[in-house]
Order: sequence, then structure tokens, then C-alpha cells
Amino acid sequence: MKTLIKNGMVVNSTGTVSADVLIDGETITAVLAPGSTLLGFDIESNVDTVIDADGKYVIPGGIDAHTHMQMPFGGTEASDTFETGTRAAAWGGTTSIVDFVVQYAGESVLDQYALWQQKAASNCAIDYGFHQILSDVQDSSLIAMDELLKEGVSSFKLFMAYKGVFLSDDGQITKAMQKAATNGSMIMMHAENGSVIDLLVQQAIAAGNTSPLYHGLTRPWQAEEEATHRAIMLANLTGAPLYVVHVSAKQAVAQIAAARDNGQNVFGETCPQYLYLSLEENLGAPGFEGAKWVCSTPLRSKAEGHQHHMWQALRTNDIQMVSTDHCPFCMKGQKDMGIGDFSKIPNGIGSVEHRMDLLYQGVVESNISLERWVEVTSTTPARMFGMYGKKGVIQPGADADVVIYDPHGHTSIGMPEEGRTKTHHMNMDYSAWEGYEIDGHVDTVLSRGKVIVDNNEYIGAKGDGRYLKRSLSQYLI
Ligand code: URP
Ligand code: ZN
Ligand code: ZN
Repeated sequence: MKTLIKNGMVVNSTGTVSADVLIDGETITAVLAPGSTLLGFDIESNVDTVIDADGKYVIPGGIDAHTHMQMPFGGTEASDTFETGTRAAAWGGTTSIVDFVVQYAGESVLDQYALWQQKAASNCAIDYGFHQILSDVQDSSLIAMDELLKEGVSSFKLFMAYKGVFLSDDGQITKAMQKAATNGSMIMMHAENGSVIDLLVQQAIAAGNTSPLYHGLTRPWQAEEEATHRAIMLANLTGAPLYVVHVSAKQAVAQIAAARDNGQNVFGETCPQYLYLSLEENLGAPGFEGAKWVCSTPLRSKAEGHQHHMWQALRTNDIQMVSTDHCPFCMKGQKDMGIGDFSKIPNGIGSVEHRMDLLYQGVVESNISLERWVEVTSTTPARMFGMYGKKGVIQPGADADVVIYDPHGHTSIGMPEEGRTKTHHMNMDYSAWEGYEIDGHVDTVLSRGKVIVDNNEYIGAKGDGRYLKRSLSQYLI
């Protein structure tokens, strides 16, 4: 099966050119000057399908390197399964995810990995890989880190918060980092000071401050900055590379930037919610509404300028990439467990479908360039997590994960259409992005050469997605 995408503007992180893209089977075989012939043959009449991308961008499929499909968490389970969540991702121009295998204290890391492989197998609409969460870093967990590397799991997430659930103490973190320093894997860190947060939460509840706003107020930026600094110091001590997930505070960004300036292999990820949403407007919404935006790290104050600073950091490469931390819960039956006690609201926001659009709006509003859009949503995730070459770029030899994006199109997020209660495809009964208007539109999505979304229709199938056996990060030497 040969496909020609003609007349488009091919956008890679390195630049934008008018070009035709030739696909053979699952692979891009040529990027050609528009209207080129091959050995005298007219290409168009020698392919099975021609897609006209005139006036549109042709970009590498999005890679969301931080999702939690059907994750057991907060006394419930994230509402998107691997099937519904990856389909929603495809709708939004994301063609690969890296999800998290969960290990709670006492569980076997390798057993959990096998379980997550089972959950995802034959269910995904797009390609998927795994990071491994480690909670109590047992001796067997350290052995498992080597074993998992052979399986293509080259990154391990640790938590400095959620005592009794995920939290690893500093000694456990140091042990895992020592292993990462020797086997070349990446340590990912949820950097918030859990003890401080637990105390502030207890005090708030005891004082009768139970509304969702207090989720944010009891997880102050100081708790994020301190933990980020501590994680950086432990990484410095051990020589492990460190990737700080869901960075929301400008002070944490400054810690990451300082470590990078110091020559350390430290990286930072932010999420759309920290670029657009805020403590005042969202977490502080009337009544229990703010529960829709309870996630950790929390949304930060707009008055303090965190969002503005985050866009700047994305532009200057103090922050390297944008994932969603997709962890959706419905209001009814899930988030409402926290009515009267914000600490019982399951933590998480669903955005996997909207990341490419929301970040494109950053191009429209001159927060980032077109090429930086591709870089932070696709190319850097591919490089950071050992997928580059196959993923994250439009070039010969790459998987034909391609999105045709229309800059003249429009996307209304979460607005009800006739006969439908929602316009998004995530398994959520609300949208965290209700009312957001995007000056662009995902027209066509190809996953390894197969068109899976076209003209507002999903035409892929459950099980199209393949497991991504990842290599080590390309940013490490
Ligand atoms: O609120 C969040 N972030 N939920 C998902 C779990 C995590 O910490 O990434
Ligand atoms: Zn986290
Ligand atoms: Zn997460």
C-alpha cells in the first residue's frame, strides 16, 4: 500500500518546507520537492492513495509521554481504558503514548509490568510504551530495572509525595538513582514534599477548609521547589539523569534551569493545564466545580505569573517538552467522592485528546514557533524516551505517523453539538477544557501508514497500536 501526501508544508522541529511525503506500507520512504518524479515515473499515478494537504501542515504524530490509562488511583480507577484513551488521543493527533505501569508497596515490579502489558494488548488505537513506577524500592526492584530495560522500559518514575501510596523516601530514591546511573535509564520524579503537604492538608480539613481550592493551597510552590531541588541534589550525588514530571511552579523551573546550567542531565516536562489554567479561575470555581481541575502538582496562581513564565520556559528550553499527565475521572461517581473533603478528590485531569490543539494555539498566540510546537509535542518526547528516528520526525525510514493539521480549520473543545452531549472522545462526563477555541484542526491522522482519523471520523480499530520497545534517552552521553 503506497500513499502520497502532496502539496503540504512539512513541519519538523528543524524547519518547514513545501514537500510531498511518500509512504510505503508503514514507513515514510521519501520527502520530495512538490510534484517530483521518481526515476522519470510520475509518483501520483503509481500510488494507491493520494492525500491533498494543500494549505495544511504535515507534522510527525504527537507523542504523549505521560498518560495513566485505567490507572487504579485515589480509591477508584482512571476513567479512560487503553481502548478509549488511545482512541481519543488519535482524534487529537497523538499517535504514540508512554503510559505508567504502577507498582504499589509490596508488589512485584515485574508482575505489575506483565499485568500492564496484558491490559494494553490488543486494545490500543495507537502505539504505546511504558515507564515503570517504583514505590518501595526493594532489592528485587533494582534487578527488575535491568530486566525492564531489555523489555524497552528505559524510564522509572518515583514519587516524593503520596505517603502510604507511592512515596519513596530519600534513601529509596537514592538507591534507584544509583541503579539508573549505572544502567543508563532515566529517573522521572513527581517532585512535591509529601510530608509538608500531608500536614497542611490535615490542618486545612481540621479548620473546616474543605473545598477544592484548598487542594491548591495545601500544595504550595515551596513544596514543589524544595522537592525539585532535593531531587536534583540526589541526582547530582548519584550521577543519575533526572526528568521532572508535571512542573507547574516557576520556582521549580528555576531549579531545573540552574541544574542544566550547571551541566547536569536534568529535564523538565510541563502540561497544558499549567500553561492555561489557574488556581484562581479553575480550582477556585464556585461550589464543588473546582474538583474538575484537582491534579498534582496543582494549578498555580495566575496573579503570581506561573503560566506566563511556563510559556517563556518552553520557548527558551528551560522546559523541554509537554505531556498531558492524562489521568481522567468523571465528576459523578469519582471526583464527587471528595465533596466535603478535597483530599478525597481523585487527582487528575484528562487532556490526551487536546494537547496538540492546545499547544498549536500557543503558536497562533505567538507563545512558541511552529517548529517548537512540533519539537515539544513530538520530537523531544521521541528523543527523551528512546524512540527518535522511528518517531518524532518526518523523514525517510521513520514510521508513517503523520498528522495533517489545518491552520485554517477550527476546533471548539467541549462544546455540545446537535444530538451529542460532548465533542470530546475521552471517557469523561465533563471537559476540563470546556469553551476553549482553537484556531486549527486535526484533519487526518495516519498511524504507521494507516489512516485512522479522517475528516472528523475515526476509521481505525482497537488493536492497531503496537508496543513500543524503547531505547535509552538520546540526550544522555
Ligand atoms: O494528578 C495527577 N497528576 N494524577 C496522576 C498521578 C501523577 O502524579 O502523575
Ligand atoms: Zn506525578
Ligand atoms: Zn502522572
